[in-house]
Amino acid sequence: MRVTVHRKAHFNAAHRLYRKDWDDTRNLEVFGKCSNPNYHGHNYELIVSVTGNIDPETGFVMDLKILKDLIRTEVEDQFDHKNLNIEVAEFRNLNPTAENISVVIWNKLRKQIQEANDLEVTLYETPRNYVTYKGE
Ligand code: NI
Repeated sequence: MRVTVHRKAHFNAAHRLYRKDWDDTRNLEVFGKCSNPNYHGHNYELIVSVTGNIDPETGFVMDLKILKDLIRTEVEDQFDHKNLNIEVAEFRNLNPTAENISVVIWNKLRKQIQEANDLEVTLYETPRNYVTYKGE
């Protein structure tokens, strides 16, 4: 009996989508407003989903208090109110698209979650644009 538990979280962060080897015109063509050289912010909404068997002793798949604390230390403390391009090492040479942010978050959390459990990350960059990643 595999059950999925979810925890929602939130962070605000600034970014710029661009390639250093492209000029501003090309970056604007491909990345639109997100290529603004002066950066811009998003209110990211994150949903972390853990799927596993119910522990017969506790009745939990995973203690959501532990998941909450993990998200705080691994994601919120590191991304919230930061400029992702400049202040988060993972994005020094990686475009901070929602896709790449979700993979970075997944990789950080995967190490901390029991191997028997599956992990999926859902990241909303805007209320209508969101991505999911489950390590495949
Ligand atoms: Ni953007």
